[in-house]
Amino acid sequence: MSADRKKFYLTTPIYYVNARPHIGHAYTTIVADVLARRHSLLGDDTFFLTGTDEHGQKIERSAAAAGIAPQQFADQVSKSFEDLWKRMGITNNAYIRTTDEKHKRGVQKLFAELHARGFIELKAYTGTYCVSDETFVDVPAGAPCPDCGRITEIVTEENFFFKLSEFQLPLLQLIESGKLKIENEARRNEVLSFLRGNWQYVLELSNEELGAPHNEPLEVLEAFDLAFKKGLLGKFGENLYYVPGALKDLSVSRSSFTWGIPVPEPAASEAKQKHVIYVWLDALANYMTAIGYGSTDADEEKKFKHYWPADLHLVGKEIIRFHCVYWPAFLLAADLPLPKAITAHGWLLFDNSKMSKSKGNIVRTETILDSFGDHVYGSQFPNSTKPERDLFATDVLRYFLLREIPFGQDGSFSFEALITRYNADLANGYGNLVSRTFSMLHKYCQGTISEGPPEQTLSELLTDLEDLTPKYDANEIRSLMESLPSVASELLDKGDLATWLKSTAIMVSTTDQMLTGLAPWKIDLQQPDGMRAVEQTLYCAAESIRIITALLHPILPAATAKVWAQLGLGDIEVAARNRELNNLQWGGLKPGTKLGALTPIFPRADKGLVQIMTDMENPTPAPTEGRPETPLKAATTPAPAQPVPTDSTHPAAAPRTSSLGEPAGTLPVGGSASTTTHNGPTPSHTEATASGPFASVASQTPITAGPADASPAITIDDFAKIELRVAQIIVAERIPKADKLLRLEVDLGHEKRQILSGIAEWYTPEDLIGRRIVVITNLAPRKMRGLESHGMLLAASEGDGGKPVLATFGEEIALGSRLK
Ligand code: ME8
Ligand code: MG
Repeated sequence: MSADRKKFYLTTPIYYVNARPHIGHAYTTIVADVLARRHSLLGDDTFFLTGTDEHGQKIERSAAAAGIAPQQFADQVSKSFEDLWKRMGITNNAYIRTTDEKHKRGVQKLFAELHARGFIELKAYTGTYCVSDETFVDVPAGAPCPDCGRITEIVTEENFFFKLSEFQLPLLQLIESGKLKIENEARRNEVLSFLRGNWQYVLELSNEELGAPHNEPLEVLEAFDLAFKKGLLGKFGENLYYVPGALKDLSVSRSSFTWGIPVPEPAASEAKQKHVIYVWLDALANYMTAIGYGSTDADEEKKFKHYWPADLHLVGKEIIRFHCVYWPAFLLAADLPLPKAITAHGWLLFDNSKMSKSKGNIVRTETILDSFGDHVYGSQFPNSTKPERDLFATDVLRYFLLREIPFGQDGSFSFEALITRYNADLANGYGNLVSRTFSMLHKYCQGTISEGPPEQTLSELLTDLEDLTPKYDANEIRSLMESLPSVASELLDKGDLATWLKSTAIMVSTTDQMLTGLAPWKIDLQQPDGMRAVEQTLYCAAESIRIITALLHPILPAATAKVWAQLGLGDIEVAARNRELNNLQWGGLKPGTKLGALTPIFPRADKGLVQIMTDMENPTPAPTEGRPETPLKAATTPAPAQPVPTDSTHPAAAPRTSSLGEPAGTLPVGGSASTTTHNGPTPSHTEATASGPFASVASQTPITAGPADASPAITIDDFAKIELRVAQIIVAERIPKADKLLRLEVDLGHEKRQILSGIAEWYTPEDLIGRRIVVITNLAPRKMRGLESHGMLLAASEGDGGKPVLATFGEEIALGSRLK
């Protein structure tokens, strides 16, 4: 907190804990992180908040389905979000959970405040409710929700209502006047039209209904004016009409379930039943409770006064109404300052529809971290640590998402596009420019930035170079270098991150062309001025890299740190704090600067990575009749043009375990497998890999190394001997002193079982809880480490390391269902 610097308070939505994060959540968090880093670079006193939304019926039901208490369920999933943000180096200043005590206190304070001011009242209400969206909707009960398409339910409740209807005109005026900023235009219009109601209906009214003095057809504006005079329409500006009453009061409590923050006294005593506070009122308040609202601690109060109101709420476009209508209305009613701006981004699509947990068409961020981190970075730097690999891969994802999706619009995600963009812009673009320039500086200039050139302006320098190399026309690089830094800053401040990155990519390619055009390696060093031409060319390239690197820092924090150090400029974080990254003026690179040690920045990614990522994301489903082992998303992520190399010496396609030289596991996937399929005391991983647990049981023959389809054919009766059923993992925990083994409890619908599984090297307990998997249920029980295992998980076995990938379902499926 600092009084003399401008403050910037930025938030993401708090994510529901009904399922683990996917790259849609990562997208919002990444955009926010880029903005937070950018504001810190500018010297702003930046506060960046994210967290999780943990109450409500949806979470209560998910916890019940997982067979655990809501708090325990929320703890696990919230941790998976928080852990992911840590792995990704996200710079949030606080992590709010709506089950935090301080949050609960703040929400109760806000509720009590609204009640005391007469904006909350008890009323009976019957309506159609969408559980998934946690909102009453305006359709007949049982019809699909107009927003998400899921079936709605009828709910009758005595509820506390917030007098939202009183805020229709104030909100229209605030948004129209720009005092409440909604970016972009389309979103702003959407909110305005929701607030206005269907005002154009008056055009269908007769002259008589409008009270017109004559029977001639009415001019449009005339009709609106008459409707206004009759009180059918209200006005909130010149020719701006609305339907009074179109904004209805809002139910802000629930009594049909208990997983929420209790309505506080004195309101609570008014109601017959116990009520919890509506989850959206609860959730929205996080933006204030996280920075001290509701606390009696003096420092917390000071913090709230300092940072509130938020400078920017960043949200996905589907929750714009909650942020632009309900939230400002609550704040107006409580007489608290409104957020300065709300910005909505579009959706990340996968398989042509919004990536979402409930649809199951998700890509997990972990897949990208592990594939790029372990296969691309890990094979180039075998001694790197997991955090280093994670941060490298995070940069790749950050760049891709921001470069590929124009902010505000929807964008499709595909593994192929990710690799193509990475290779084009980062490996061949920025990375190659850096290594090319720095190795020439080593070769020709002893790794030192030459004396001399920086005293010249860029223009003089380039003119000089043109004279030395008559065929070269430096106009393009001249105008770019002179204009780009300010253009880039402007684009950033407008939030146009994609164009910003496009312009840095152009700067990279122009610098590259300059190098090729001036061709320092062709210059005859014996010739007078020969050395000077080389030095000046390399100065230009290095200085261009310095500016590009400073510009890219908020997007690529890890990679730019490496480049900065290699350029001999030291620790980029220190440079950022000293505002050195804001110096985009030509000539900032000082002569005499000595380059640091050189290592590759962006090793090329092989196309085979597409398959690796697809496999990580789509564990081979349980075979169904006639169509065994078809990858779930084969249609949308076509096989790469070149066959996937299986050779473990191939850097990009090598399976993770072998490419890192880690020892492969020695236990097969399902603990029980060893009893039924292996006689020897130590089952070898090759056997587990050879055909996977399913095939090994089915064939009942000794396992030989080779693909599954090489096993002898079986009859349908053979297959019928194996009982495969859908189960959900409800407990997963490590077993003391057994590194490879996890103890699982699975729910088969009609019974629960304990299974021991040798997957601890690949799956953490958090990864597993809640997953619906396939269990072989009729295996003889087997004792391991003093515990009994009753069954085995179905998993594919990937690559030489025998990495297990659990079979799961892309659709809703009842527990206990048999696979046949
Ligand atoms: O709505 N593309 O939580 P939520 C882009 N708890 N962004 C996506 C996305 C996609 N496919 N999927 C999710 C909630 N997001 C409430 C919010 S705030 C007071 C309460 C991102 O888990 C995007 O930011 O459904 C979206 O708005 C948010 O996650 C919704 O997360
Ligand atoms: Mg949602």
